[in-house]
Amino acid sequence: MKEKSDIGLVGLAVMGENLILNMASKGYTVTAYNRSTEKVEKFINGRADGKSIRGAHSVEELVESLAKPRKIMLMVKAGQAVDDFIEQLIPHLDKGDIIIDGGNTHYPDTNRRTEYLESKGLLFIGTGVSGGEEGALTGPSIMPGGSPAAWEHVKPIFQDISAKVDDGSPCCDWVGEQGAGHFVKMVHNGIEYGDMQLICEAYQLMKDLLGMSHDEMHEVFAEWNEGELNSYLVEITRDILAYKEDGEPLVEKILDKAGQKGTGKWTGIIALDMGIPLTLIGEAVFARCLSAQKDERVEASQVLSGPKVKFEGDKKAFVDDLRQALLAAKMISYAQGYALMREAAREFGWHLNYGGIALMWRGGCIIRSGFLDNIKQAFDKNGDLKNLLLDDYFKGKIEAAQDGWRRIAATAISSGIPTPTITSALNYFDGYRCARLPANLLQAQRDYFGAHTYERVDKPRGEHFHTNWTGRGGDTASSTYNV
Ligand code: 6PG
Repeated sequence: MKEKSDIGLVGLAVMGENLILNMASKGYTVTAYNRSTEKVEKFINGRADGKSIRGAHSVEELVESLAKPRKIMLMVKAGQAVDDFIEQLIPHLDKGDIIIDGGNTHYPDTNRRTEYLESKGLLFIGTGVSGGEEGALTGPSIMPGGSPAAWEHVKPIFQDISAKVDDGSPCCDWVGEQGAGHFVKMVHNGIEYGDMQLICEAYQLMKDLLGMSHDEMHEVFAEWNEGELNSYLVEITRDILAYKEDGEPLVEKILDKAGQKGTGKWTGIIALDMGIPLTLIGEAVFARCLSAQKDERVEASQVLSGPKVKFEGDKKAFVDDLRQALLAAKMISYAQGYALMREAAREFGWHLNYGGIALMWRGGCIIRSGFLDNIKQAFDKNGDLKNLLLDDYFKGKIEAAQDGWRRIAATAISSGIPTPTITSALNYFDGYRCARLPANLLQAQRDYFGAHTYERVDKPRGEHFHTNWTGRGGDTASSTYNV
């Protein structure tokens, strides 16, 4: 073991322990610290035994054990605990030392902490870490942002422990300034919500409309996983559908009430704040909320009725349409997520590497999929791409998928089976490709009742007009403001 550790890690819950073991397995010496020090002892004498890992029993001991510039990674609960540890560490650190927050932190906190620590001559990194417990141990996707000067010091460790794609590239690169890393992780989680909901809608259509058995659905997901839909979430769905308890599929014994820790909601909130139509992720969050109203839904199901449709078409063709619908809607979701990141970069002055983000998501994380290669290529071709759908590859794919996608949406709606993400994605697609939306009428309405003014197609942009629609109003327009 080296005399001084390469890095220290605070927080010995399973993610923290697994990251330490991953670092040690790559030849790094790590100091492990936890507020309740019995955990340190247990870890050092247990899973860490015989590895290049030393325990610290106080903040002083932790700091003392580290090579300079010191690197201390916090894997503690997001929120106050991070601020508390930062305050405990500051008096013991020297200029240029680096604190890293690897939790699921809300990016404004990372913006604030970066500024605060830099003002004290220290460096800060807020990094997304995705891949769950197993990923932390064997190779997560790591999305670091914060003080750019810190990157060269943590880069070797982070890239060594991260997942690798087929050509050996690490699923970790510098994301950008301040809270950019945590912002990108938040969007990752939003996309995770969307991908999961899309899969759930496909499952409900197969089960309730087509009457497929779990073994049949397992086969479909297995086949999908071999093609363009290949992804970790499709793969685990395949396995979940095959899982039996006492000979029965376990999934049917699970209460249909979704939980959420809030990262999808944050993604939706910032999209509303920034005025970016992030409809698919928004629907996915609300679908979880609706599922959580279990008792009310059970009551409503006894009062409200819908169509009773028996599927009489070609099941195989329907399942293939479903594959196309999933692919197309997924493209919409990523296009929307990337549009949000683009707007955040503009607003915060971040320099985001969009192709690099696709590569970071390509392996190790929950949304990993083959599809991300195509996104990487699209941004490699045009780093300034406005919308993923405008890239030739995605344009071609979505055009090819749209007939099947429309058939699925139409059938789901006429059969009364909820498909909020599949259908809202289609509405976004149709809205985005529509040169003239009915917002002219909406502007007229706003001007009619509130004198909010409108621009005209026959006059230069930026000139605002007000009409006295009823003859009773005055000529005074209200002041304009834009959200
Ligand atoms: C990851 C996941 C993870 C997330 C959980 C739970 O990338 O490893 O995104 O960070 O916290 O999946 O999220 P919900 O409880 O909100 O579903």
